[in-house]
Amino acid sequence: MTRPTPPATPEEALDSAFRLLARGVADRRSPFHTPTLATVATDGTPNLRTVVLRAFDPATRRIRIHTDRRSAKVAEIAARPRVMLHGYDAGAQVQLRIAGDATLHLDDAEAEAAWAGSRAMSRMVYATPHAPGATLDTPTAAPQDAEGGRENFAVVTFILDRLDWLLLAHEGHRRARFAWDGAGALSAAWVAP
Ligand SMILES: Cc1cc2nc3c(=O)[nH]c(=O)nc-3n(C[C@H](O)[C@H](O)[C@H](O)COP(=O)(O)O)c2cc1C
Repeated sequence: MTRPTPPATPEEALDSAFRLLARGVADRRSPFHTPTLATVATDGTPNLRTVVLRAFDPATRRIRIHTDRRSAKVAEIAARPRVMLHGYDAGAQVQLRIAGDATLHLDDAEAEAAWAGSRAMSRMVYATPHAPGATLDTPTAAPQDAEGGRENFAVVTFILDRLDWLLLAHEGHRRARFAWDGAGALSAAWVAP
């Protein structure tokens, strides 16, 4: 298989990174469909977990994921909103690390729209009476009816303001770093891999 020509400019690398994220939302088989979300725990230690990438808008750089409001990550984000997402696409040989300040949506229009747009199977996981991480007597916690899950459902969004792109390539690995300021101005640079 011939590999695509590596991006010649940081801007091309950013375009390809945004395409990978967009495909992560649309394509369940894409590795970026299930990136790793990092938060800082309340005791200062890192915490990582797999999440499903639900939405990414390249124009606004806005990311959306869904979670259980009783989960550790929600408490962690409420205390320290800085988050990172990480993924590695072995086909494209690209690692992405993106960061931003997360917003929790519990009862607002964002949460309502996301709940309305989610399928019964997805809703079911929020209907369990047990908070994620709660100790159980048996290995599975049977869900109730899916509608009961709404009160446990939460949406996390963030606008990515840092992106680190790493491409493994025979010609030499390439890495670029991108940062957006509060006004949306982009600074981009190649960096040593
Ligand atoms: C493939 C996969 C997809 C997952 N997607 C989500 C998700 O979209 N949202 C979520 O909250 N947890 C998801 N999880 C479960 C989390 O990885 C984690 O176990 C759970 O959210 C509890 O995390 P916390 O205690 O750190 O908050 C997923 C796990 C796997 C393996």
